[in-house]
Amino acid sequence: MIVAIDGPAAAGKGTLAKNVAKHFNFAYLDTGSLYRAVGLTVLNQGGDPSDEKIATKVAEEFEVKDIFAIMNNPEIRNERAGSAASKVSVIPAVRKALFDFQRNFAENPILENGQKAKGSVLDGRDIGTVVCPDADVKLFVTASTEVRAKRRYLEQKEKGLDVTLEATIADMKIRDERDSSRSTAPLKPADDAVILDTSEMSIDEVFGIAVKMVEKNQ
Ligand code: CDP
Repeated sequence: MIVAIDGPAAAGKGTLAKNVAKHFNFAYLDTGSLYRAVGLTVLNQGGDPSDEKIATKVAEEFEVKDIFAIMNNPEIRNERAGSAASKVSVIPAVRKALFDFQRNFAENPILENGQKAKGSVLDGRDIGTVVCPDADVKLFVTASTEVRAKRRYLEQKEKGLDVTLEATIADMKIRDERDSSRSTAPLKPADDAVILDTSEMSIDEVFGIAVKMVEKNQ
């Protein structure tokens, strides 16, 4: 069973994907963390994430075997890493370098404790369209820009980061535009995805819908 959850920044896909994976004891892959880690590595090397040559080299040499450590690393969660991720993710060779790992994870899902799982939940931008067009369940989770920016702003503030709502909205608009307009694997719902606008829905409501969809496919 493959569950694909796509959507723009701070739409709630991470929380949903994690909760669904936990509920069914499926393996969870936050594919954004791969792009974030590549983007951050380029920045830490003093490079420009838009530089195709450098970003591709980092992506090709990237050790995805440490995926659980990468997903749990708080450093990749800040907006600096998010913005760098959105820049490296425009580069087709970077996407290609990360594709096989994602595909393999979906087909051979492994839990954090090393056990095999009966299914996987992947969240990202192009899971239902490119990485797993064969997914059993496809969800496209979205919300208005204002609602998403407010969620991200509160999240960052809670972490003690020095941010403003205005700057968060501006960053989000730039990132959404870059993610939606790129020519390779742009952010868009798959034709067969169920679209959930979570602007006025609680985490529990969204979770309930996703659980029913997975159960129907079991
Ligand atoms: O949590 P948030 O939605 O802000 O970001 P994320 O899911 O961690 O993704 C960070 C960036 O990586 C996105 O803005 C995309 O540019 C890129 N990404 C992508 O291109 N393809 C994916 N499957 C996942 C993320």
